[in-house]
Amino acid sequence: MEFPAYIKHAQLRAWIEDMVALCKPDSVHFCDGSQEEYDQLCQLLVDKGTFIKLNEAKRPNSFLARSHPSDVARMEDRTFVCSMNRNEAGPTNNWVNPREMHKILDELFDGCMRGRTMYVIPFSMGPLGSPLSYIGVELSDSAYVAVNMKIMTRMGRAVYDVLGEDGLFVPCVHSVGMPLAPGQDDVAWPCVLDNSQKYIVHFPEERSIWSYGSGYGGNALLGKKAFALRIASNIARDEGWLAEHMLIMGVESPDGEKTYVAAAFPSACGKTNFAMLVPPKPFLDDGWKVTTVGDDIAWIRLREDGKLYAINPEAGFFGVAPGTNAKTNPNAAATIERNTIFTNVALTDDGDVWWEGLTKEPPAHLIDWQGQDWTPGTERKAAHPNARFTAPASQCPSIDPNWEDPRGVPISAFIFGGRRSSVTPLIFQAFNWVYGVYFAATMGSEMTAAAFGKVGEVRRDPFAMLPFAGYHMASYFNHWLRFGRHIPNPPRIFIVNWFRKDPEGNFLWPGFGENMRVLKWIVERVHTSAAGKETQLGRVPEYDDMDWRGLENFTRADFEQVMCIDHAAWQQEILSHEELFIKLYDRIPKELLSVRELLLSSLWSAQEWKNRYEA
Ligand code: GTP
Ligand code: SPV
Ligand code: MN
Repeated sequence: MEFPAYIKHAQLRAWIEDMVALCKPDSVHFCDGSQEEYDQLCQLLVDKGTFIKLNEAKRPNSFLARSHPSDVARMEDRTFVCSMNRNEAGPTNNWVNPREMHKILDELFDGCMRGRTMYVIPFSMGPLGSPLSYIGVELSDSAYVAVNMKIMTRMGRAVYDVLGEDGLFVPCVHSVGMPLAPGQDDVAWPCVLDNSQKYIVHFPEERSIWSYGSGYGGNALLGKKAFALRIASNIARDEGWLAEHMLIMGVESPDGEKTYVAAAFPSACGKTNFAMLVPPKPFLDDGWKVTTVGDDIAWIRLREDGKLYAINPEAGFFGVAPGTNAKTNPNAAATIERNTIFTNVALTDDGDVWWEGLTKEPPAHLIDWQGQDWTPGTERKAAHPNARFTAPASQCPSIDPNWEDPRGVPISAFIFGGRRSSVTPLIFQAFNWVYGVYFAATMGSEMTAAAFGKVGEVRRDPFAMLPFAGYHMASYFNHWLRFGRHIPNPPRIFIVNWFRKDPEGNFLWPGFGENMRVLKWIVERVHTSAAGKETQLGRVPEYDDMDWRGLENFTRADFEQVMCIDHAAWQQEILSHEELFIKLYDRIPKELLSVRELLLSSLWSAQEWKNRYEA
């Protein structure tokens, strides 16, 4: 095989040769990551019908892709963690014996790239050459994957310089699983049509990834969830750091003090929006400023100065389109004005994009995400609820000046938040690290369209990592507890819920930019030793502790409602955590069982007192 001279890594060459022999592509394209290559591949995708070029005047250098209607989100039931020992993967991951899985994959991948080009995609997760970064090489038969990887990662030739002759890399193989016979026409979005034949497979001990049958998002862009979370969480456990499903943002106060926080919300629960928050006018006038470091993944380490430092391993945003507009997220709206790939949004008659929530009034006519005519009143959605944009992070107006600092930014607080229409109040602060880990571990959230599943149903999504922890979930809890013990002054941990509703189903909290009011209280808590008001769950703000300028119509009574801790409901909630703990019984850390007992007894006595008082 002919290799470019700049690939000097013998083991990498040997692996590529093996994979070419197995997959049998017609040709091999070594991606160099240049702009010219990106433009050529986009043109190729246009020629093949995968991409539609958008109106150059309205959306310069941007494209629309429509996936196959069955290939629209991550497939959690087809995602596997194949550790040597079943118990290592734990009860929340699908597991198959690695030898058996290799046999399955060897059969599936045999000849799977016939009639196609194999793209060799070298990428760095984290700034190129940073001591915190890791390198991967993805072999994919999808040009769509190659151009998305160019935006989402540091992709290209320079990666080989960092890799040298014997650097470490994570091998990632991806195929859409639709080989072409000689003369057979391709389709716009090749993939395996039978979802039960898709495989997204991780081998934690080998540190390798194999993905078959899907071309969409986290199933196919393997640097993201597969590498930066599932494999990286294994590396992080071994090396004593954290790989998390978290946004990273900076908050600058009027006196110039900069505080960075990291926040974990489950898929499609508001990370991108929060990371790019625009404060309400009175805050802006005072000089408050919010900056964005990352919107999905954080790699976090403890340094000698006793502080935690985080990097965003990604270089782009793969964000949910529906709901995004110039009011809810002006920074995202500006980020995606150009050089953006849209997937599964609707196409307007003038060659621009549209989705539910972009404008109040939909255009009079659209082509929907499945390529069909759409007019207002049509029952089908114009954009798929998990339609996404792929855009360079550097285009975000709120991007933090230090977002590519190879040493990372110092983290002063962690925030955890699910989507709960009831029970969980707007905000509370955990008493300490262990209580914080407890609430993160037991976080409940209503499912969204970001994954195949029952939308709306509450499930436990520990640390927003249920689909992404690459080993036993309870060992992961223990890793967090152990990690906290080594931090002299650990970051404060906060729990939030932007999604609480009244009995009529209206959101009790305005959300979006108004979340700044909660964020300001959090930042103040980080810099003060004041005790705050204590409740059974943790410390909470009182109405007068928060800055309400510009939101005067949100009354004291509204605040009480969104902050209400219903003791009976919380007893039920804590009792229901038993289900998770039983599932994880063989490794659940004892500290968490103790916290549960303490919470139950304090809630029980609070409820008892109330009953007696009322009797
Ligand atoms: P992934 O990329 O899937 O990991 O998700 P994410 O957490 O980045 O989700 P994103 O920020 O894209 O949020 C998705 C949905 O949440 C959109 O429909 C938003 O409109 C909605 N959303 C975000 N913030 C708020 C908020 O403060 N209040 C309400 N009610 N909805 C919000
Ligand atoms: C998520 O589902 O949490 C995402 C989108 O960020 S994907 O990359 O497709 O997993
Ligand atoms: Mn995510």
